[in-house]
Amino acid sequence: MMYLPLENKAAIVTGGASGIGYSIVKGLARAGAGVIIADMSHQGEEAAKALVEEGLNVIFVQGDVTLSEDAQRIASKAEELFGGLDILVNNAGIYPRSMMPDTTEELWDRVMSINVKGVFLMCQAAAPWLKKRGGGAIINMSSSHAAVGSPELFAYSVSKGAISTLTRNLAGALTSDRIRVNAINPGWVATEREIEVQALNGRNLDWLIEKGKTLPLGRLQTGEDTAAVAVFLASDHATQITGQIIQVDGGSTVQ
Ligand SMILES: NC(=O)c1ccc[n+]([C@@H]2O[C@H](COP(=O)([O-])OP(=O)(O)OC[C@H]3O[C@@H](n4cnc5c(N)ncnc54)[C@H](O)[C@@H]3O)[C@@H](O)[C@H]2O)c1
Repeated sequence: MMYLPLENKAAIVTGGASGIGYSIVKGLARAGAGVIIADMSHQGEEAAKALVEEGLNVIFVQGDVTLSEDAQRIASKAEELFGGLDILVNNAGIYPRSMMPDTTEELWDRVMSINVKGVFLMCQAAAPWLKKRGGGAIINMSSSHAAVGSPELFAYSVSKGAISTLTRNLAGALTSDRIRVNAINPGWVATEREIEVQALNGRNLDWLIEKGKTLPLGRLQTGEDTAAVAVFLASDHATQITGQIIQVDGGSTVQ
């Protein structure tokens, strides 16, 4: 019989309709979990359908994590659909390129709203449901830019720095409820969005792949690299790990 580390578990992945989030949805569902793709984009409908056809238990719930009523509705859906909630992955995020002088107030607010407030609202909405199950796991998607900073991703790197603090704060606050809170810092992942963002600067996929070869472990990271760590952190193999920030960056921050 196949070993499924997340059998009978229920999960929410925000921003699960595409990119790294979709890889995590696949990873959790293939490990046995029922998964809600919570995304602003209706692309989540097609994304869920493709996995249901594979025999996986995945459902799309449309919502905007920056709205507290949507966060509450998404969190309570897990109880309705799966009878409870065990895992929350806060992956929804945006990363517009902008140096400090070009960072408008509107851009700053949008980045902070999705990347920081959205994570806070989802944690606040999900924590009572996780507690009701006797504990669970929250995994926040941060970035290696939280650790090293980045002038051309000025607002973004600040927002991901906030996620490191939020992760440690919340981990301390939720130990008595047996809720573990960890973050993953992916390095550089050639998702469709990242390819689009690079194209704005005249850089194509070949450029990205060549750049990857210069990284310490010789390639860009993939969504699957991050998903493998998310599945581990969500599983009972990680029951003594909380408040940690795991770099999945091919060694970029050690050289
Ligand atoms: N791609 C990279 O190189 C990289 C590196 C480090 C960290 N990250 C982080 O990983 C996460 C995913 O990045 P990606 O490259 O897969 O991006 P992506 O754009 O492919 O995926 C992000 C998803 O979030 C959704 N989303 C955006 N705002 C939302 C909102 N308000 N409510 C609900 N859903 C919303 C989008 O619709 C999209 O489906 C982000 O948090 C990003 O900062 C990415």
